[in-house]
Amino acid sequence: MSSVTHELRTPLTSIRAFSELLRDDPKMHLADRERFLGLIVSEAERLTRLINQTLDLAKIESGRADWNGCELDLKEVIEQSVAATGQLFREKGALVELDLPDNLPRILADRDRLIQVMLNLLSNAVKFLAPGSGRVTVMLRMLADGLEVSVADNGPGIRPEDQQLIFEKFRQVGDTLTAKPSGTGLGLPISRRIVEHFGGRLWVESVPGDGATFRFTLPFAPVQEQALAQAAAA
Ligand SMILES: Nc1ncnc2c1ncn2[C@@H]1O[C@H](COP(=O)(O)OP(=O)(O)O)[C@@H](O)[C@H]1O
Ligand SMILES: [Mg+2]
Repeated sequence: MSSVTHELRTPLTSIRAFSELLRDDPKMHLADRERFLGLIVSEAERLTRLINQTLDLAKIESGRADWNGCELDLKEVIEQSVAATGQLFREKGALVELDLPDNLPRILADRDRLIQVMLNLLSNAVKFLAPGSGRVTVMLRMLADGLEVSVADNGPGIRPEDQQLIFEKFRQVGDTLTAKPSGTGLGLPISRRIVEHFGGRLWVESVPGDGATFRFTLPFAPVQEQALAQAAAA
């Protein structure tokens, strides 16, 4: 409770400070005015994200979240997520490479929740890319007992001592000047819980200076259901 309150106080403090500046200086230059108003809007947006994600995580942790588990083609989910973040990549002048084999076995998960995981990993990756030379590779591959998705970027990477911390609530590391204001530090904790709910794992591998690769696994859907689905499709 106290860490949530602390996190909410930061954007609220900025909103208040910028509003007071605007109120107290009616003759402020138009350019400054617009800059402050822009900051107020983006801090208010961050506040909304913080509240929504805090509630979402609390719901998941207390076991009250609704899960719509169904058999999914992971390739489709990935393609949909990549399409949804296309604009972010274009704005950064970044390339997205896909290596997504067809006809892999299905997995059992909640489509919207998996898209939430993918959107977080993709938007994290794009956030840290250098403008104009960024590249993100999304791969899907089959393991003995499930599928593995990886999202690899050529950004700054994550220091070994931070690689566990970033999965803790509200934890943001790295370039706090550029990346922190827009984030909440809740994306990865939520993503990890989603993947674990469906029996998988989510982790990061990174050598600082050489990018970061986030990977998650999901077990195959049970064989019986797989066969039933195929029979129904035939
Ligand atoms: N691809 C990445 N490259 C470098 N750092 C990353 C990457 N993805 C996540 N991080 C670090 O992990 C932190 C937590 O990520 P996340 O939980 O999604 O929160 P948010 O995106 O809201 O900051 C980020 O603030 C950043 O410090
Ligand atoms: Mg994030």
